[in-house]
Amino acid sequence: MPSERPTFDLVVAANRLPVDKVVTDDGEVEWRRSPGGLVTAMESVMRSQPGAWVGWAGDAGEAPDPFDEDGIHLHPVALSADEIRDYYEGFSNDTLWPIYHDVIVPATFHREWWAAYRAVNERFARAIAEVAAEGARVWVQDYQLQLVPMLVRQLRPDVRIGWFNHIPFPPVELFAQLPWRAQLLEGLLGADFLGFQRQADARNFVRACRQLLGAPTKRDRVTVEGTQRQVRAAAIPISVDFQGLEQLAKRPDVMARAREIRESLGNPKVLMLGVDRLDYTKGIRHRLKAYEELLSERRLGPPEVTLVQVATPSRERVEAYRMLRAEIEQTVGRINGDLGQIGAPAVHYLHHSYPREEMAALFQAADVMLVTPLRDGMNLVAKEYVTCRHDLGGALVLSEFTGAWHELHQAFACNPHDIEGLKQTILRAINTPAKDKQRIMKALRRRVADHDVQRWAARYLAALDAAPEQPRPDPRGRPTPHAEDTPLMPSPTEQLRAAGESGSSRSRSRS
Ligand code: ADP
Ligand code: G6P
Repeated sequence: MPSERPTFDLVVAANRLPVDKVVTDDGEVEWRRSPGGLVTAMESVMRSQPGAWVGWAGDAGEAPDPFDEDGIHLHPVALSADEIRDYYEGFSNDTLWPIYHDVIVPATFHREWWAAYRAVNERFARAIAEVAAEGARVWVQDYQLQLVPMLVRQLRPDVRIGWFNHIPFPPVELFAQLPWRAQLLEGLLGADFLGFQRQADARNFVRACRQLLGAPTKRDRVTVEGTQRQVRAAAIPISVDFQGLEQLAKRPDVMARAREIRESLGNPKVLMLGVDRLDYTKGIRHRLKAYEELLSERRLGPPEVTLVQVATPSRERVEAYRMLRAEIEQTVGRINGDLGQIGAPAVHYLHHSYPREEMAALFQAADVMLVTPLRDGMNLVAKEYVTCRHDLGGALVLSEFTGAWHELHQAFACNPHDIEGLKQTILRAINTPAKDKQRIMKALRRRVADHDVQRWAARYLAALDAAPEQPRPDPRGRPTPHAEDTPLMPSPTEQLRAAGESGSSRSRSRS
């Protein structure tokens, strides 16, 4: 039966919808903004053009009915409690996330997690096929949905398919550890265009196709096995809504709030700030270690200097995240116990999410912004900080291991593994004369203003449109297959590969 649902010319698919369904203690349903940079960026893109967003509503069980919110058609995809455990917490965040972030913590491999990942990717593909208009542009996001491009191609050969990776793409030596590496690459090669944060990420992908699939490659293009189809992989770094955020930061109430924050902290001479999801990739431990040493060596000290660390709760049922939280909270307690003073703690630790206004005020209040990830696809916090500094105040300490560093070279660059170097960089960011810091901030702001998220989206969609025309549906009038009645069988090569590789899939306990 033909679907009666509305269809859209632009369909974005991401693991999460921009809002999370939360059932409060008194049984009321509330929708709250979802965490993370992907949502920040894609939300501002989708608010300015008509389209649908396919994604998970953030809780277990049946999906809510599709609804419209602030001009975006939201199409929820259901995840069961077991799928949240196996697909989301397991395969996405305990297998792929560590592999794609330099194995900062060991990756865990479980065949059941892979089965759930496949099943959920199939469900997403069916949902996309349902809402995509004839010839639509389908824009798949991030590592949770790497099989979706090929699955959508099988269901809807008429649509144009793009995928963008918000996180790094690992070097082949790490990617090759994945028992399902071939299936993941083949899944991605279903797209017409693949976007990455850095050129190095795009090159890693092309190299993985060449070495692990034996696919012919030429510069940024991969030819798909058994076809003449070429897929391009290129860097298009994501950004922030510069104008929108700058406007917010210029609001008198937000600026007044920034002053109030400083006052409530005792008007320190230097206010340092960290803002991160509580994730082991963010280098929060390294930052605290450098800060603690600077305090104990009396090179810095409260009440003149203080640090506010905002750590958004994240993936709290994954063990590596639980351990990180315990460690960070213990370290903050120790630093405050050893080095704080009455009424002047050395670290103000906040484990909450805040409204955008409060974040903009915090950015304006901070003299030094500490962005010290060990690996980060982009890090939008760095770009948000400079966007909010319309007064040209402040200094950005930025890890070389973020995508942002490749654009924001003028920042105070650091290698977070080098604690001594990080300490020096923090001192430099504090002590550099104000005039020089203003010059640096001006250059950083120019870069972000010229390369904002609107430009990112326009560049991405232009690259997708420029991808070579793909085979269209059968001209003899065979109808485009329907989501519900098309079996999503693996291709013969995939079946063979799965059979060959399942024996080699390693399992590790989650301890
Ligand atoms: P990631 O996507 O890995 O979390 P990014 O730095 O790219 O990292 O993006 C984080 C986004 O989440 C930014 O838009 C930032 O402003 C927002 N954010 C981080 N912490 C908080 C918080 N405590 N409250 C509200 N928003 C937050
Ligand atoms: C990063 C990822 C996103 C993810 C976000 C928040 O930005 O690239 O895909 O949505 O972190 O993580 P979460 O697991 O809470 O969705």
